[in-house]
This record gives sequence, structure tokens and C-alpha cells, in this order.
Amino acid sequence: MSEPNTGDPARRPSVFRNWISLSGLTLMVASIFSFLLLLFLDSLAHFSNPYIGILTYLIAPGFLFLGFFLFVTGAILRRRKMAKSAASLSLHIDLSTPRDRRLLAGFIAGSVVFLLVTALGSYHSYHYTESVQFCGQACHGVMKPEMVSYQHSPHARVACAECHIGKGAGWYVRSKLSGSYQVYATIAEKYPRPIPTPVHNLRPAQETCEQCHWPKKFVGNVERTFTYFLTDKENTPFSVRMLLKVGGGDPTHGPVGGIHWHMNVGNKIEYIAVDEARQKIPWVRMTDPQGVVREFRDPKYTNDLSHFAIRKMDCMDCHNRPAHRYETPENAVNLALALGKIDRSLPYIKTNAIGVLVKPYKGEAEAWQGIATALISQYKDEPRVRNAIDAVQQIYSDNFFPEMKANWRAYPDNIGHKDWPGCFRCHDGKHVTNDRTLSIKSNDCDACHTIVAQGSAAQLEQLALGQKFKHPEEDYDPAYQCTDCHNGGL
Ligand code: HEC
Ligand code: HEC
Ligand code: HEC
Ligand code: HEC
Ligand code: HEC
Ligand code: HEC
Repeated sequence: MSEPNTGDPARRPSVFRNWISLSGLTLMVASIFSFLLLLFLDSLAHFSNPYIGILTYLIAPGFLFLGFFLFVTGAILRRRKMAKSAASLSLHIDLSTPRDRRLLAGFIAGSVVFLLVTALGSYHSYHYTESVQFCGQACHGVMKPEMVSYQHSPHARVACAECHIGKGAGWYVRSKLSGSYQVYATIAEKYPRPIPTPVHNLRPAQETCEQCHWPKKFVGNVERTFTYFLTDKENTPFSVRMLLKVGGGDPTHGPVGGIHWHMNVGNKIEYIAVDEARQKIPWVRMTDPQGVVREFRDPKYTNDLSHFAIRKMDCMDCHNRPAHRYETPENAVNLALALGKIDRSLPYIKTNAIGVLVKPYKGEAEAWQGIATALISQYKDEPRVRNAIDAVQQIYSDNFFPEMKANWRAYPDNIGHKDWPGCFRCHDGKHVTNDRTLSIKSNDCDACHTIVAQGSAAQLEQLALGQKFKHPEEDYDPAYQCTDCHNGGL
């Protein structure tokens, strides 16, 4: 079409022979070429990089369409002009002339190639926009906290889309619509910091988590050992081994009871939260398999509840951080001490490590600097402090994201009750039915777990079921809840 005029007078002037169409055509050829090249590079690369991905699957096809648009627009404009200047333009194809046959064959072949490449491109764009790198890395700084915490989670091999989008075209489109807004918000820097949690339009667990985790599974008792170090000079170790009574919710697979009794297999639990983060729950309603309904309410909360939405409890009301858990400085330092990454023989290192972690820093570089300076000034030229500094800096990078204001304070974990209200949002003993019968109280310690050993070293070997928890700080008033004193920091 764009070949130079050979001077054959019988040739009809082509509508495509104009500058707009020609540049469109060049653009198309160039973008197809770059697409194929990028595709080739991307498939060779060991680790694909998000920017190549954006170029290949979003920008190159974009230029292809722009080129096509120019190509057609040029032809239409040209046709109008030719019609005005009364040039004959009635399109008539005469298949007996070799030239027309060639033209038609060329056109058909061109269209087929165009469609194939477009199809391939779209297929890859579809997959690309669902990939972990698109969601987690393309927007770089914004998703960094979620991406880093995800990589340290038990779900590091589950794609973001499995939990955030799930199966089916409807949610794909919905997510792309809100995703387009997010891309705009990122470019325009209009996103909130920290990104608010919970995600209010997250798909129900039945359609995501339960596609992999079978809710009827009977789990029974799960053994957990929690290892702590006290804030004294010796950083005394203290551990609790317990059986968590996870149980199950389906009678065909085991006795119904325990923590997973809430699973919605037989029972339905609904609640009203009066804050955005779903941490204050004054009203709970449960419907058992026989259809008997019971309502629990915190009588101290007297405000009107009618304008709040009722939420049906699912996996994510307890497991709300399956992929993005920001460790509390306390837990992270405890773990590093237990693994020997921080030397326990450094006096007061537990307190000091937490102390430097919770200081406000503007960015990671400043934090690393601040951690090193503070610990060196505390321990002088003590050689053991070098490893401690490395470990504390790593804890900072894995759990604190000052640019996005993301850390454990912004993202409560609902699974326990020590550092956030968690289970005690409902099981605080304050929620009562009208006839004042109580649900589980927070001081029924054995309702949810049984301690089998606690203390340190030899004490941990002496197993005895159903011990009372020996709180390291002697008897406190049982009217207090753990979160009245503990907050994950100091
Ligand atoms: C195992 C399931 C799962 C996977 C995989 C997963 N997420 Fe999440 N994500 C969640 C849940 C659950 C929440 C919190 C929901 C809530 O509390 O309502 C969440 C919350 C978020 C939030 C909101 C802020 C926050 O931390 O609460 C963002 C942003 C996010 N995820 C991005 C990602 C990205 C990016 C990936 C992939 C790199 C990813 N997620 C992978 C389950 C998952
Ligand atoms: C695509 C499949 C998939 C989806 C979707 C999924 N998970 Fe998982 N989940 C897994 C796998 C696989 C493991 C086991 C990881 C291992 O043991 O290494 C796991 C482990 C877990 C564990 C145990 C973690 C631990 O500390 O041992 C919990 C709890 C859990 N998932 C909850 C959830 C919740 C809640 C959701 C929905 C937000 C969810 N999962 C969605 C595959 C999935
Ligand atoms: C009145 C305040 C208060 C209350 C309430 C309280 N604690 Fe503590 N807790 C402390 C203090 C103080 C320490 C000692 C800190 C240290 O020396 O490391 C401590 C230490 C601990 C430790 C050991 C190490 C550590 O630093 O984490 C655990 C575990 C613990 N508490 C669990 C709980 C649990 C679970 C509850 C609720 C059932 C609870 N505490 C309620 C004040 C309290
Ligand atoms: C009432 C709160 C609650 C609800 C609702 C809940 N879980 Fe759990 N689940 C727990 C607790 C507590 C554990 C014990 C392990 C822990 O502390 O991490 C647990 C353990 C698990 C485990 C690990 C079992 C193992 O063998 O280690 C999986 C997987 C799991 N839950 C999946 C789910 C899924 C899927 C749902 C929704 C269908 C769900 N849970 C609903 C509280 C809950
Ligand atoms: C939204 C409110 C709510 C939250 C949050 C909640 N529960 Fe419950 N839970 C209930 C209600 C309501 C009952 C039924 C109480 C009754 O029958 O008196 C219940 C019952 C239980 C039971 C008894 C099951 C049986 O065998 O009868 C256990 C165990 C339990 N919860 C553990 C937990 C744990 C552990 C957590 C935190 C991971 C938790 N719950 C979080 C509302 C809640
Ligand atoms: C409604 C159920 C429930 C009740 C009641 C309950 N716990 Fe727990 N507790 C849990 C769950 C669930 C966890 C596990 C958290 C996790 O997996 O991280 C836990 C964890 C703990 C831990 C380890 C804490 C941590 O996160 O480091 C201690 C200690 C503990 N409980 C003590 C107590 C004591 C003492 C009482 C009574 C005053 C009590 N619990 C009452 C559900 C309960």
C-alpha cells in the first residue's frame, strides 16, 4: 500500500497514501515489532521485571491501537477529500486483475496477523494485570508494605488475585474498574497513607479462601509455642506452650466445637462494628442450625445502631492478616533473640532494640542510620552489637514502611488478644443477652486454649495439661484486658 508509485497510470490513487495513515502504519509495524521483541526478552528473562511487563502488555498494544486509529482516520479524511475533488473513488475490486488479487490477499493476510498479534497481546495483558508483579511491584512504593509482608507470609506462593479477585468475569471487571482508579490515584499521588484496612469490598471468603481451604475440615488441637524475653537486664526467656482448640464446624468430620465453630458451616454469626477498622463491636447475633437466634449486646454502648451495616462473620474476621502481617516490634525482637540473631547476653538488649525500632523515622535510610547510632552509643565498642544492629535494621525493613505509614499500629491482627483486642472484641464478658446470660468471657482462659507448659528451659519439659497462665508480672487486676497494658511496642 505504501510502496512508491511506479508511475503506472492505470493505478487508482490509494486512500491510504497520506501522511496520517503512513505514520499510523509505521507506528503499527513498530509496535508489533517491539511487542514481539519484548515478549521474546520477557520469556527469556529468569525473573521478569514489572517495567518490561508494562511495556509489553500495556504500552506496546496501546501504540498498536493508536497506529491503527491513525491509519484508518487518515484514510477516511483522504477519502472525503478525494470525494470533494470528484476523484473517482467507488471502491470496486476486480479479482481478474492480478493487482487487485494481490491487494486483497495482502489485506487479508495483514488483518489475520493483526488480529493474531492483538489476541496474543490481549491474552497476555489479561494475565499480566492479574500477576503478582503487576499488583505488587508495578506501583512500587504504594504496594511495597503489602508486597514485603506478603513475601514473608504462608501465602507467598498464592497470587494476589486469588484472594483479592477470585474467579469469574464479574469480579475481574470490578477489580479492573477500581484498579484503574488506583492507577490514577497512584500517578496523581491521591492515595491514602496508610491504605485503609479492612478492605470493605473484599470478596467474601467463601469465594476466595474457601476455594483452597475446605471449611468442613476438622482441625482439632493445634500446638503453638510462644517464646518471649522479658525486659530485665538478663533478657530472661519465658515461653508458653499451648494447645489451641481450633476444633471444627461440621459434624460429619468431627465433633462440632472449638474456635472453628464460628465457621458458618452450621452457625451464622453476624455483628455490627461501629468503627472503620472493625475493632469496636457492641452487637453480635448468632443463629444456630436449629434457627434459634440469640443477640448479645454491650449494655454500656447505648447509641443507636440502626444505621450501621450488619456484617456476616467469615474467615477474615479472625484471619485478617493471612498475607500481610506487620509484626509488632516486640514479637519481631523476641524471634530474633530466640534465633540468636540478636545476642541475648547484651544487657537490656530487648528493651533497647524495641526502643530504637519505635522511634519516628522519615525513611528507611534514616532509620538504619538511627538504629546503628543509638545502639553503638549504648553498647560502645562491644563487638556483639554489630550483629544486633544488622538484625534490628532487617526487622525495620520487613515491618516498618514510613513512606506509607504502614506498621503494626495501623494494621491490627484479630487472631489472638494480647496486642490487639482480637477475640476479646466479642469475648470480653461484657456482651450479654437480654436475660443476662453471658457468652465466653475473656477470663475463661481454657475455653479457647490449654497451656501444657510454660517458663524457661527445664520447666518447658514438664508437661501438664490445663495450667493457669503464670503472667510474668505478678498478679494484675483481672478486670484489665491484655491490651490495657500490652500494645506490641513498649
Ligand atoms: C491469602 C490471601 C491474600 C493474598 C495472597 C494477598 N492478599 Fe492482600 N489482603 C488479604 C486480606 C485478607 C486483607 C485484609 C482484609 C481485611 O482486613 O479486610 C488484605 C489487604 C490488602 C490491602 C489493603 C491494606 C491492608 O494491608 O489491609 C492491600 C493494598 C493488599 N491486600 C494488596 C495485596 C497485594 C499487592 C498482594 C500480592 C502481592 C496481596 N494483597 C496478596 C488477603 C490476601
Ligand atoms: C490459592 C489457594 C489459597 C487461597 C485462595 C488461600 N489460601 Fe490459605 N493457605 C494456602 C496454602 C497452600 C497454605 C499452606 C502454606 C504452608 O503450609 O506452607 C495456606 C495456609 C493458610 C493458613 C495457615 C497459616 C499458618 O500460619 O500455618 C491459614 C490460617 C490460611 N491459609 C488462611 C487463609 C485465608 C483466611 C484465606 C482467604 C483470605 C486463604 N487462606 C486463601 C492456600 C490458599
Ligand atoms: C496490668 C498490665 C498488664 C496486663 C493487664 C497484662 N499484662 Fe502481660 N505483662 C505486663 C508487664 C508489665 C509485663 C512484663 C514485661 C517484661 O518484663 O517483659 C508483662 C509480660 C507479659 C508476657 C511476657 C513477655 C512479653 O514481654 O510479652 C506475656 C506473654 C504477657 N504479659 C501476656 C499477657 C496476656 C496474654 C495478658 C491478658 C490475658 C496480659 N499479659 C495482661 C503487664 C500486663
Ligand atoms: C473465630 C475465629 C476464626 C474463624 C472465623 C476462622 N478461623 Fe481458622 N483459625 C483460628 C485460630 C485461632 C486458629 C489457630 C491457629 C492460629 O492461631 O494461627 C486457626 C487455624 C486455622 C488454620 C490452620 C490449621 C492448622 O492445621 O494449622 C487454617 C488453615 C484456618 N484456620 C483456616 C480458616 C478458614 C478457611 C476459615 C473460614 C472458613 C477460618 N479459618 C475461620 C480462628 C478462626
Ligand atoms: C463477632 C464476634 C466474635 C468474635 C470476634 C469472636 N467470637 Fe467466638 N463466639 C462468638 C459468639 C456469638 C459465640 C457463641 C457464644 C455462645 O454460645 O454463648 C462464640 C463462641 C465461641 C466458642 C465456643 C464454641 C462452642 O464450642 O460452643 C469459642 C471456642 C470461640 N468463640 C473462640 C473464639 C476465638 C478464639 C476468637 C478469636 C480468634 C473468637 N471466638 C472471636 C462471637 C465471636
Ligand atoms: C475467646 C478465646 C480466648 C480466650 C477466652 C482466651 N484466649 Fe488466649 N489466645 C486465644 C487465641 C486464639 C490465641 C492465639 C493467638 C495466635 O495464634 O497468635 C491466644 C493466645 C494466648 C497467649 C499467647 C499470646 C501471644 O499472642 O503472644 C497467651 C499467653 C494467652 N492466650 C493467654 C490467655 C489467658 C491468660 C486467658 C484468660 C485470661 C486467655 N488467653 C483467654 C484465644 C483466647
